[in-house]
Amino acid sequence: MTCADLGAGSGSVANWMSRRVGETGQVDAYDLDTSLLPMRENIKHITADVATCNFRLPYDLVFARFLLVHLPEPVLQLNRMVSATTPEGRVCVVESDYHDWEMPAGLPHMERLKRAYLQVAADFGWDVELGRRLPALFQSLGLHDVAAESFSRCERGGSIGNLLLSQSVEPLENHLLNTGVVSEDDVRSAYKTLRDPDYLMRFVTTWACWGTVPYKPRETSQAR
Ligand SMILES: C[S@@+](CC[C@H](N)C(=O)[O-])C[C@H]1O[C@@H](n2cnc3c(N)ncnc32)[C@H](O)[C@@H]1O
Repeated sequence: MTCADLGAGSGSVANWMSRRVGETGQVDAYDLDTSLLPMRENIKHITADVATCNFRLPYDLVFARFLLVHLPEPVLQLNRMVSATTPEGRVCVVESDYHDWEMPAGLPHMERLKRAYLQVAADFGWDVELGRRLPALFQSLGLHDVAAESFSRCERGGSIGNLLLSQSVEPLENHLLNTGVVSEDDVRSAYKTLRDPDYLMRFVTTWACWGTVPYKPRETSQAR
């Protein structure tokens, strides 16, 4: 079995795939930066821009988690994923939906952080409701057996999720300040809140959607 993990990051999913496909299978892990990927016999590290590269193989499974929202024209990218998948193969995408993101009550700096974050996302052209749109998009691209699930949860400051959120704020700090919605003090206080177990925050909703690429009979000369 051949799998592709697009925007594989530190490779937690590629690693899981590698165990599932075993010695006879192949996992191609694509990322702009492949330095964090695990070294395993059946994981190939491919340093590439998945928005424009030629995919190495046709795959039985093409997967992307928390990637499409950051790419220009996510629908086009989804189409490229479908094209890289063998007939009867699967495409699976995991994405967030920021619609239900809730900050703890009574903390105006967190509300301002959220507003600034959503403004930066809009400036970058991120579709912050992509998660909920996935099932309809999969169907519009002709995939069959489309199914999806979603979940959201509340976590205390200091949890892995809140630390990851804090890490995703750091590289955006200048952009957040440039919105004029948050101050440097707000951002510093937000980092503290995200580490403070007294506060409970409701995360963005995570959606997972999958579908099967239809089998297309090869055209014969008679059929043409
Ligand atoms: C939020 S991380 C998600 C990592 C991984 N999929 C996960 O769920 O743990 C997004 C990853 O996508 C990669 N990425 C972003 N744009 C990319 C592009 N155009 N081509 C390849 N990788 C890209 C980043 O380098 C980063 O590793």
